[in-house]
Amino acid sequence: MKVSIIVAVSKNNVIGTKAGDIPWELPKDLKHFRDTTHGFPCIIGRISLEAFGDLLPNRFNIIVSSKKEFINIREKIAINLPEYETGITEKGAQYVIVKSVKEAVDYAKDILKTDLVYICGGKGIYEDSQQYSHELIITDVDVHIEENDVVIYNPFPSNDERNKWKVVNQIHHPKDHQNNLDFSITYYVKNEEILIDYKVENQN
Ligand SMILES: NC(=O)c1ccc[n+]([C@@H]2O[C@H](COP(=O)([O-])OP(=O)(O)OC[C@H]3O[C@@H](n4cnc5c(N)ncnc54)[C@H](OP(=O)(O)O)[C@@H]3O)[C@@H](O)[C@H]2O)c1
Repeated sequence: MKVSIIVAVSKNNVIGTKAGDIPWELPKDLKHFRDTTHGFPCIIGRISLEAFGDLLPNRFNIIVSSKKEFINIREKIAINLPEYETGITEKGAQYVIVKSVKEAVDYAKDILKTDLVYICGGKGIYEDSQQYSHELIITDVDVHIEENDVVIYNPFPSNDERNKWKVVNQIHHPKDHQNNLDFSITYYVKNEEILIDYKVENQN
């Protein structure tokens, strides 16, 4: 099973605010997120789910949390989950609640038997899953966020980590009337010898 991280970051590695907002509006990048993840299981942290405001439709939502009830942060209303730990909502979004990223990845592999799972944030989920990940899809937003209460995820905290990844594709999106910032989407894959280690490790 391939594990793929999908994230948008500012120049100073901000992914959102502690209040749950994403400090830019790029409909084209949201479409990229929707189109890329459509139909695949998505692993999501509790605060990101509450910031999205609802489960992601047309995907199996694997929610990482110690809680069982969730609130739409903006509207301050409960996110309606009909069953306790796993189920399907009226809108047809499937979900399961698990306690760790490892449990989430195992669920995707062993229960859903998917070929591909997306890691959809936030910070702790990205950081804990990077060791299992085969692909990084990073939207680099051409903005520096100055706010204080921000959430930071640096995919490449060291040269060692950066050297594990090679760029396989990059698409630049200049700003336009609906997307007021330039951004680039870069696809990285983990270098092959590290992928082999990953598979061997998981066969034991
Ligand atoms: N730019 C992007 O691409 C992007 C994507 C997604 C989200 N975001 C933004 O990121 C921000 C939210 O990120 P965040 O890092 O604050 O929160 P988060 O990771 O979404 O959620 C944190 C919660 O998830 C659970 N959790 C997270 N990591 C865990 C781990 N390793 N093991 C067990 N449980 C874990 C815990 O839930 P419990 O407390 O319930 O136990 C924790 O309190 C928001 O601003 C959101 O808009 C940005």
